[in-house]
Amino acid sequence: MTIRPLVESDADSVWNIFRDVIATGDTYVFAADTTRDDAVAYFSGPGVTAFVAEEDGEVVGMYKIIENRRDRGAHVANASFMVSPAHAGKGIGRRLGEHCLHEAQRMGFLAMQFNFVVSTNERAVRLWQSLGFSIVGTLPKAFQHQQLGLVDAYVMHRFLEL
Ligand SMILES: CC(C)(COP(=O)(O)OP(=O)(O)OC[C@H]1O[C@@H](n2cnc3c(N)ncnc32)[C@H](O)[C@@H]1OP(=O)(O)O)[C@@H](O)C(=O)NCCC(=O)NCCS
Repeated sequence: MTIRPLVESDADSVWNIFRDVIATGDTYVFAADTTRDDAVAYFSGPGVTAFVAEEDGEVVGMYKIIENRRDRGAHVANASFMVSPAHAGKGIGRRLGEHCLHEAQRMGFLAMQFNFVVSTNERAVRLWQSLGFSIVGTLPKAFQHQQLGLVDAYVMHRFLEL
């Protein structure tokens, strides 16, 4: 597996993965009818640094780094990850997470914050904890889970000196 910067011609792959990930309604706030343009814009455009994971020429996952807040909050990074459900559980998320931490540190960020990790998303919560993130806050009933109804979301944080 290789990790490389996301380029314009990845748009179809990004859209396919995005659509498959949000279809289950259990990890991201996006509604099932989110458009291709919105999906592609989420992972590209001004202020977005994005990478894809590629396996045998196929894009199997992606992540982006943005400033968590502008100006006086801009020293903290925020990131979002999506791995193709067909390729989940094979270590791609972990590799992308490690890459993201290094990249954010290289970019000069002091810390990384995830603003909205769905509490029932055990795979993500455990992965982020194993990469050094702590749950620093719980947002009660903040997510409308497709199967479970209202569930909590976590704010997760870590400093970046690796
Ligand atoms: C969360 C996500 C990025 C993880 O990527 P992945 O490639 O599936 O994860 P990995 O294969 O690297 O596994 C990560 C860890 O989760 C664990 N794991 C795997 N399947 C699991 C499951 N069903 N339940 C709980 N933990 C699980 C693995 O043991 C692994 O830990 P390890 O490396 O110590 O063995 C990916 O599944 C995804 O895109 N999910 C949908 C979108 C999402 O939730 N994004 C993150 C929002 S915060």
